[in-house]
Amino acid sequence: MNPFQYKNGVLHCEDVNVPSLAEEFGTPLWVYSRAKLIHEFRAIQEAFAPVNPVVCYSVKANSNLSILKVLNSEGCSFDVVSGGELFRVKAAGADTTRVAFAGVGKTDEEIRFALENDILMFNVESEPELDAISRVAAEMGRVAPVALRLNPDIDGKTHAKTTTGRKGNKFGMDIERHDQLADKVLADPHLNLRGIHLHIGSPINTVEPYEQAAQKAVEVVRQLRAKGHETNWVNLGGGFGLNYRANEASSAADYAKGIMPYIQKAECRLALEPGRCIAGNAGILLSRVIYVKHEGGKRFVIQDAAMNDLVRPAMYDSFHKIWPVEPSVGFPESFESEIEGCSPADIVGPVCESGDYLAKARPFPEVVKGDLLATFSAGAYGTVMSSNYNSRCRGAEILVDGDSYSLIRRRETYEDLVAAER
Ligand code: LLP
Repeated sequence: MNPFQYKNGVLHCEDVNVPSLAEEFGTPLWVYSRAKLIHEFRAIQEAFAPVNPVVCYSVKANSNLSILKVLNSEGCSFDVVSGGELFRVKAAGADTTRVAFAGVGKTDEEIRFALENDILMFNVESEPELDAISRVAAEMGRVAPVALRLNPDIDGKTHAKTTTGRKGNKFGMDIERHDQLADKVLADPHLNLRGIHLHIGSPINTVEPYEQAAQKAVEVVRQLRAKGHETNWVNLGGGFGLNYRANEASSAADYAKGIMPYIQKAECRLALEPGRCIAGNAGILLSRVIYVKHEGGKRFVIQDAAMNDLVRPAMYDSFHKIWPVEPSVGFPESFESEIEGCSPADIVGPVCESGDYLAKARPFPEVVKGDLLATFSAGAYGTVMSSNYNSRCRGAEILVDGDSYSLIRRRETYEDLVAAER
């Protein structure tokens, strides 16, 4: 399901004409499809239905309150990595007993905040963290639910900056130590071992690393149960792939087919933490061409979205499709990587860094000042990673629902830039 379609030569989000949104709200502008968010969440829920999973949407992918509310209304659970994300989940009206809390550096305050809100479990990433959770829980007269985040040493075959399950990554605890760690939890009256957690990286387009992870996870559970631990949960984290280009990612059904047999055999509860695959293709970043210049034998399309808005190309060399919102006659109404007559262009932003680009040497139609461009697959790790670098105001966000739409975050003003400063 693709909510972004050209109709009569003009890009639409569901039934809303995209240029009309740019007219009303200006650019850069983030435009999301409600139907797509729901479609992708349900796809996971349905694919894994035989094991009745708990699908914790990974809030870090896109934490806008309205998006959390949409997913909450679908019965989604949530994965958070900070007190701030937990605050957002609460503000969205969600039930915090369905929240998993990950992250290598949880502070005492964050632990207390999570315990006050009766979260489902902490994904614990180190022994000192176990000690801290136990101490805070004791102070509060509570028993903290924990899952041990284990590092399975699996290569997710993804970008070096987003691989997390290899030995030597900062996440989790070495899988060989599960026994000793579990004994430590068992001996502690303020900790309750709910299960284990593995997250191998993101995005992981193939199923095989998940099969390996599931196999290792249920083996650990089996060993822990043999020792008398009541270990029920296997949380396989997030990282399901996204079709940034064409059909490079596996489908929810593929992942389910690979993972479920292990879970069923071990009779475990399964938790998942998908973010990107739910929000990614539900959003675009809309920008307007400011100038086109030809220098150094190259064509530069300078438009008003920059690395402060979408940092992924600068940070990971990520590929995002970019295409005019109203392609001129003769050009297709969708992105094509090889088109006759399409000379390459660098599509860049106004930020003062050479690394500020959305695409490099990309075959691109002729565009002129004022044209609107859409950068696709921008719904996940877009706004959440944006900044005010170069004192640029962050753009507005719009949520489309059929033929209606609403402003879900207003554009920042110059006053916002200095509001917290003195
Ligand atoms: N669970 C844990 C423990 C994670 O660390 C992550 C992502 C997720 C779930 C969600 O992964 P997802 O399903 O969204 O792929 N900024 C990078 C991605 C960093 C992901 C960090 N952890 C990017 O723009 O590609």
